[in-house]
Amino acid sequence: MGQTTLFGDAEVAEPLDPLAWRAAMGAFASGVVIVTTQDEAGQPVGTTVSAFSSVSLDPPLLLVCLDHKSRTRAAVKRSGHFCINILAAGQGALARLFAGPGATDRFADVEITPGVLGAPQIAGALASIDCRLHSLHAAGDHDILIGRGLNIAAAPGDPLIYSQGRFLGPAD
Ligand SMILES: Cc1cc2nc3c(=O)[nH]c(=O)nc-3n(C[C@H](O)[C@H](O)[C@H](O)COP(=O)(O)O)c2cc1C
Repeated sequence: MGQTTLFGDAEVAEPLDPLAWRAAMGAFASGVVIVTTQDEAGQPVGTTVSAFSSVSLDPPLLLVCLDHKSRTRAAVKRSGHFCINILAAGQGALARLFAGPGATDRFADVEITPGVLGAPQIAGALASIDCRLHSLHAAGDHDILIGRGLNIAAAPGDPLIYSQGRFLGPAD
């Protein structure tokens, strides 16, 4: 049976400098995913995310952290499902596109196919993992969205890597 344990917030004399926090978090190298789903009208919605992790093998669970301001977060809460597209080296331009303003225009020139629940799978991704929303946990100004994997479409290749505000590897 699932269980969440809350330890509360310890009192701190000096709050952390947000710039130092950003710099420290940015030093971590990560892969990059695009989280997709559909809005009420069935239109594709999605955004770029580096806060992604595998969580559990049995059952197959993964997580993404999405800002409370994210339109994609709101759409996933509504639809109850999403697709994780793990980007390949060379898809840095796509990562930038899906982080910029304009939620609907992002898909204008992107080849997509619907996953098993309808959320778009992005062509060229190393893996597209269709997930049902399993649980959502508020954490500061973000939510942790846990998804249960239902289906995987995978392709060979090297991953896109992001660290210190840049995409590493071959030019995209
Ligand atoms: C490399 C990279 C990683 C990002 N990682 C995250 C993340 O983990 N969580 C998040 O909420 N936003 C992240 N963002 C920012 C969102 O992509 C950005 O705020 C986007 O405009 C949100 O779009 P939406 O409101 O349509 O969902 C990242 C941006 C980039 C370029």
